[in-house]
Amino acid sequence: MSEKIVFSGVQPSGALTLGNYLGAIRNFVTLQYEARCYFCVVDLHALTVPQEPERLRAQTLEVARLFIACGLDPAVSTIFVQSHVAAHTQLSWLLECITYVGELRRMTQFKEKARKQEVVSTGLMTYPDLMAADILLYDTTHVPVGEDQKQHLELTRNLAERFNNRFGPIFVVPEPYIAPRQSGSRIMSLTDPTKKMSKSDENPNSYILLTDPPDVIRKKFARAVTDNGREVRYDEKNKPGVSNLMVILSLCSGRSLEEIARTYNSSGYAQFKKDTAEAVIATLEPIQRRYQELVESGAIDQVLCVGAARARQVASAKLAVVQDRMGLVRAQCNEG
Ligand code: TYM
Repeated sequence: MSEKIVFSGVQPSGALTLGNYLGAIRNFVTLQYEARCYFCVVDLHALTVPQEPERLRAQTLEVARLFIACGLDPAVSTIFVQSHVAAHTQLSWLLECITYVGELRRMTQFKEKARKQEVVSTGLMTYPDLMAADILLYDTTHVPVGEDQKQHLELTRNLAERFNNRFGPIFVVPEPYIAPRQSGSRIMSLTDPTKKMSKSDENPNSYILLTDPPDVIRKKFARAVTDNGREVRYDEKNKPGVSNLMVILSLCSGRSLEEIARTYNSSGYAQFKKDTAEAVIATLEPIQRRYQELVESGAIDQVLCVGAARARQVASAKLAVVQDRMGLVRAQCNEG
């Protein structure tokens, strides 16, 4: 059987949320012991919407530290920053040349993000090509992501197949690795449970940040929108707020949805919300402690250096094959 190779990326466009953790990073931690893994802080993707330069720099390092604080082991996984490996943008260009404008326009995330911008950058539109490049450079077999990335992964698969049909079997066609909703692939906003929890939401009460202190977490859960009923039962359609809190409590406490329903059924929502907040605080406590240690030790630069060197080796070899197949002349001179 061929080797399992995992790639995933997280944008440094703000501090990470509980949605990022439960929907993606938590799964990265398990997968790192089963597969060859690459985890990337995708700073170039963040640039597709306006960013304040110093904040972007700080947030890039923050996400890298949070990766490790959440349990990614740099001795086991390759952890790196996207802009440190030039092959990502180089392959992205080549993929743009086989992508149709109509395909990019159809992307739901493009449409949603474009609606929020006064002017829309070209990068926002070609975002999925860069994401496809990230994945295809490493012969990735599995991509662990939340539900919102499904459409981008379908496009990645289409591009890989299109390329292979035109130029020969070069790319591995990756499989999405998306958990069911009950397992956290779509954690919803605490203030509007019909929308996903997102760090770009204007209302900070709608999301929990991995760095939120316990008191803030308690307040946000106390205010979380539920419904007029009293019944704690999993029903995404009719009880989206309660169902979302049940998923969060279940993932943070290890208790099943059935057990949670039995425990809190008909007792009203107050205790249920309190216990959910405490379970989240207990889950985040060791992450926040390790994060603080990493800030103090300044150890992140070396990790990212080693990660980029490892990633560069694999990515540049793949890029050379792609360039060759597409008819680019290989440079014959020695660089420098
Ligand atoms: P990003 O940075 O928006 O989110 C990072 C990961 O967190 C997941 N996620 C969620 N999961 C459950 N519930 C939520 N509310 C929630 N919010 C976010 C996302 O699905 C994602 O897995 N385009 C990607 C980054 C990327 C990437 C890649 C991913 C760039 N290149 C290559 C995989 C492979 C993004 O914007 O994720």
